[in-house]
Amino acid sequence: MNRSIEELQRAWLNSEDWQAGLRAVYELGRQDTAASPASLPVRIRQEVMGPHFAKYHIEGLPIPAVLHYITQAEPHADPHDHPWGFTSFVITGGYEEEIFYSDGTSILESHWYGEKHRISARRIHRIVRLLDGECWTLVLPDPWERKPGFYRWDENGQPLYRPWDREDFQPLQSE
Ligand SMILES: [Fe+2]
Repeated sequence: MNRSIEELQRAWLNSEDWQAGLRAVYELGRQDTAASPASLPVRIRQEVMGPHFAKYHIEGLPIPAVLHYITQAEPHADPHDHPWGFTSFVITGGYEEEIFYSDGTSILESHWYGEKHRISARRIHRIVRLLDGECWTLVLPDPWERKPGFYRWDENGQPLYRPWDREDFQPLQSE
């Protein structure tokens, strides 16, 4: 039976043993992938995002899944949004997230080990503090939605934006 990625993701998220599934995925992520047996049905592909943030794409699962490994918060980074919405599971540690409104004001939310939460593609945020050392999360992305980018605000609270692949910030045009 062919099921869509969305159906599989929904079924998995709704299953009562999702924490057991998370533990299994976490153990896979800890393995030295070069030493993994050839028969292992999944492969881990590393994507280094910066000195304190790496992604581990888990390839071969019926749904897209990515481990995020964060060793240091970036409280002064330009806030960003995303190409897709996603569900995030905090596997170890926790983090404090700063979420921005369109006028540049923000709120803080803490996410601890064991939490599951949804993040929309349009959420503008950054991680400002790790709550208990290094943090692993498992991210299950939705389908691609939009081109992501970075934000700043001028002294009048007007948003400035640059697409992720551009260098310069420009006044944000409403979409
Ligand atoms: Fe993000």
